[in-house]
Amino acid sequence: MKIGVYPGSFDPFTIGHLDVLKNAAGLFDLVYVAVLNNSAKSPVFSVEERVEMINRMIESEGLKNVRSDAFGGLLVDYAKQIGAQYIIRGLRAITDFEYEFQIDAVNRHLNPEIRTVYFMASPAHSFLSSSNVREIGEMGGSIEGLVPQCNYHYLRERLARQK
Ligand code: PNS
Repeated sequence: MKIGVYPGSFDPFTIGHLDVLKNAAGLFDLVYVAVLNNSAKSPVFSVEERVEMINRMIESEGLKNVRSDAFGGLLVDYAKQIGAQYIIRGLRAITDFEYEFQIDAVNRHLNPEIRTVYFMASPAHSFLSSSNVREIGEMGGSIEGLVPQCNYHYLRERLARQK
């Protein structure tokens, strides 16, 4: 069984992430969306909120072979624990490459058996990031169409309260 883990901060999960996830779900038997539980990154959304929003999105999109979970510690250790042979990452632009190149080098050093596969973001999402969504939402702009529709109202209210 081919299992992939799609890790990230997902603070919050955007439609760019959803695009990558749908591609991965079509390729792997099972995909875990793994939310990094690291308070050092000072996320706006708690890990519980992020997992809950992702679970709602999985349900609403009918993604039968996708699960969501939180993880702490090293990603390769978590991947081994859930039996994932692949890490899934998205690439939006050349600026992502340097960062991904470094993460891949570290992960390969730690566990060469776990390989990373990349999906290019759709050009329509190449500008989109979680930090853009947070900033737009906190400043009262519309985030409709930037986040999964099932989470739109929750995120709009939550980010408006955040500012
Ligand atoms: O969405 P992000 O914040 O770019 O995701 C980064 C993530 C979660 C993939 C990365 O920070 C990570 O894997 N952290 C877990 C700790 C770890 O394994 N570090 C070694 C590789 S950098």
